[in-house]
Amino acid sequence: MTRVVLLVALALSLAAPVRAQTAEDAGASAAERGRALYVRVGCYACHGYAGAGGLSGPRIAPDPLPAPIIIHYLRNPAGAMPAYPASVLEDAAVTDIRAYLATLPRPQPADAIPLLRE
Ligand code: HEC
Repeated sequence: MTRVVLLVALALSLAAPVRAQTAEDAGASAAERGRALYVRVGCYACHGYAGAGGLSGPRIAPDPLPAPIIIHYLRNPAGAMPAYPASVLEDAAVTDIRAYLATLPRPQPADAIPLLRE
């Protein structure tokens, strides 16, 4: 956990601020840009590629919080999550990440899994 936080902090300190739109993804949808950003800035390391949580972060998809709340939380996390200031990840980039989270599939209900029905 501490190692993940340090690696994310190191990666962020070396990188230029992450913008929502770069030349190569002009024409991509918000969710497509958000998917690339989600991986590039390391959200997946704690929340999983499908936003399902379970690594060290909680589930954050497919019903993400409203964008202003996510932006506020990224700037001022309360617990183990590292902060992502606007100088690192601008507001529009967070909005794209939220658009990606909203497209992720809903998990199966437990009673759809035969072994859990015994
Ligand atoms: C080093 C692990 C880590 C990384 C990287 C990380 N998070 Fe988190 N996140 C957490 C943890 C742990 C929590 C639970 C609250 C806390 O401890 O801050 C959390 C909470 C959240 C919440 C609030 C969830 C809720 O319902 O309360 C959101 C939204 C969120 N993270 C989004 C993101 C996004 C978007 C990124 C990438 C920009 C990201 N996180 C990167 C660990 C991480």
